[in-house]
Amino acid sequence: MSKYNFDKIIDRQKTNSMKWDRYAPSVIPLWVADMDFESPPCVIEAMNNRVNHGIYGYPSEPKDFKTNIVNYVKKHYDWEIEENWIVIIPSVVSALYSIAINCTKNSSHIITPKPVYHHLRLAAEQSKRNFDEAELETLENRQFLSLKNLNKVVNKKSELLYFCNPHNPGGTVYRKNELANIIDFCDEHELFICSDEIHAGMVLDNKKHIPIASISEVAANRTITLMSLNKTFNFPGVGLGWMICKNEELRKRASHGLGSIIPNAEIFGYIATAAAIQNGNEWRLALLEYLSKNRQLLIENINQIPGLSLYNMEASYLGWISCEKLSLKDPFKLFLDNGVAFQPGYMFNQPNHLRINIATPQSQLQEALSRIKMAIK
Ligand SMILES: Cc1ncc(COP(=O)(O)O)c(C=O)c1O
Repeated sequence: MSKYNFDKIIDRQKTNSMKWDRYAPSVIPLWVADMDFESPPCVIEAMNNRVNHGIYGYPSEPKDFKTNIVNYVKKHYDWEIEENWIVIIPSVVSALYSIAINCTKNSSHIITPKPVYHHLRLAAEQSKRNFDEAELETLENRQFLSLKNLNKVVNKKSELLYFCNPHNPGGTVYRKNELANIIDFCDEHELFICSDEIHAGMVLDNKKHIPIASISEVAANRTITLMSLNKTFNFPGVGLGWMICKNEELRKRASHGLGSIIPNAEIFGYIATAAAIQNGNEWRLALLEYLSKNRQLLIENINQIPGLSLYNMEASYLGWISCEKLSLKDPFKLFLDNGVAFQPGYMFNQPNHLRINIATPQSQLQEALSRIKMAIK
């Protein structure tokens, strides 16, 4: 048995939790991407120590913070980067939005995948640039961004591709040849890439996360990679992330507004991230084991429910479920009325789908799955 107890039910009511406050207390919330598990003990202890100090002035970057990121990225993703390629950011989402504005012209065209984490699409939309969505292709139940569909939307003004790996929703982990194809495409059409890799620490089945920027010199020069440990170690309410960009000019443009329009990272983000980098790996491996079991439970149950099907889930805890066969106008509402809150598919521009968050104790997931079955009955 793992020394970490992911089965523990922790009452999150009255803790100002977005996930738990949105719907009635009787509803099991399986929507926004945070986990119902405590953060690793090393993170809690580091934060407690800092809280107990009692003074929370403006922080400076902890000693060796960037060196530790360089080593972390090398150890986990076999990618050699340099400290000066790294820019610390308070959140990945803020960087998604600022990059669209800072790194493209008014007349530029942007490509986003579909479906994708809604902030990638909204960043393109709200930048007021023209944009198009490239639909993911499905092959043997696995979704991925294909050249065929990228070619359908690219045009002469295309300048930026938003990319998400591991993919949210669904958890596709891109293979090296797929990444190489995307790089060739971007090189041919002179696009740069904003690659959101926030779920990289939760790749399942001993597969490897390959940062797209790591696969070649061309890729490194065309890519801004966004990473954070806040998903993997469950402190999204604390935040902190980083951009990695080898291309100096692109990096400078992407950093515009940091410390003014975009606030600097905050003290607890540094504390939590430093602790997770230093001492969090054993917990992370235990988490992956638990998530794999939850995924198994999900697969077994979903397969018994007529009208629902789950795409291959290779990473993280955000499964993508097709309800196309149900032919319902609003599948989200059906399940909400039966006590389960999914993330509605319309947030990803696919209303006949739902996203499920399985990062919850097994007993809770089991209860949610029973309610889902009842709803269909
Ligand atoms: C793909 C992806 N990017 C970014 C975020 C949020 O990043 P942050 O909390 O650092 O703003 C999420 C959260 O769900 C996500 O799934």
